[in-house]
Amino acid sequence: MKNVYILGIESSCDETACSIVKNGSEIISNVVNSQILIHTKYGGVVPEIASRKHIESITVVIEECLNQANMTIDEIDAIAVTYGPGLMGSLLVGLEAAKTLSFIYNKPLIPVHHIAGHIYANNLVKEIKYPALCLVISGGHTELVLIEEEYKFKILGTTLDDAVGECYDKIARVLDIPYPGGPIIDEMSKKGNDTYKLPMPLNDDSYNFSFSGLKSAFINLVHNETQRGNKIRKKDLACSFQNVVSNILAKKSLKAIKEYNVKYFIAAGGVAANHEIRRKLKQICENNNIEYSFPDISYCTDNAAMIAAAGYFAFKKGTVSNLNINAMSSIPLE
Ligand code: KG4
Ligand code: ZN
Repeated sequence: MKNVYILGIESSCDETACSIVKNGSEIISNVVNSQILIHTKYGGVVPEIASRKHIESITVVIEECLNQANMTIDEIDAIAVTYGPGLMGSLLVGLEAAKTLSFIYNKPLIPVHHIAGHIYANNLVKEIKYPALCLVISGGHTELVLIEEEYKFKILGTTLDDAVGECYDKIARVLDIPYPGGPIIDEMSKKGNDTYKLPMPLNDDSYNFSFSGLKSAFINLVHNETQRGNKIRKKDLACSFQNVVSNILAKKSLKAIKEYNVKYFIAAGGVAANHEIRRKLKQICENNNIEYSFPDISYCTDNAAMIAAAGYFAFKKGTVSNLNINAMSSIPLE
């Protein structure tokens, strides 16, 4: 069978990225230009700055990606691009670049949902088997997604308030940790002990999550201890927080694995890089004889290889768009 080369473009938040992926599974080249250091100064992503930086780097990133692959656009079968959800101004930069390439070189344009991309980052490690269950944990999303067959998604539950990555970043700020706080809290927790008592968030029978109560409890605890003149043991607090978060994510994932009789478990999104969450998810899968895989750590956060991989499966299904497609800041996965 003929090989299919997809060029993927991602610019939904603060990473300008381009990648070429063969047959939805093999990375030929991958370029990510991260703006994190710029946004760190402001304590979070500033949308206007993000879109301006995307404009500055998009063509360089695409050229670099083709150079790395030693390929020309003529050898590409289709252009896949994130069209939502994300920051409107940021999405538009990648989408306009993709439309331009599609128009000039007469290549099919494949619109990809950002979360479908995160999910298919798993296919770059091992072929996904169906029915699969994916725990999506990122800065903007917390969802349990059932994938009954290739590129068909059903959301079983979602967060009722903050996304888990957002919660990590917000509690980190209270400890004077710069944005994005998630990876730093993860590192600190490795050296701490679970000695602080925090509430297990939305510990019910649903597949939904809620992290704002846990966030408030964390912030109140820090304020109260500070007012009493007690020193915060930051590593222990990070470890206690991470334990509560990983326990609820693992508990609800296991319930869904059992109820939906899934054969394969995967995780996706920036927070899927978290060592303790990975350890607990691995543990529930091994204890229950469920096959699993997680994306490589560097492909958990935003990148374009995941968009090219998802784009391959969307293309197989015939999802091709005309040039009228617009970016969508919020859009359902299903
Ligand atoms: O998927 P992503 O790059 O962007 C969105 O689509 O939202 O995820 C970014 C999020 C940030 O909130 C960041 O703090 C979090 O992922 N994150 C982590 C870790 N690495 C990244 N959170 C906890 N532990 C980590 N190791
Ligand atoms: Zn993302």
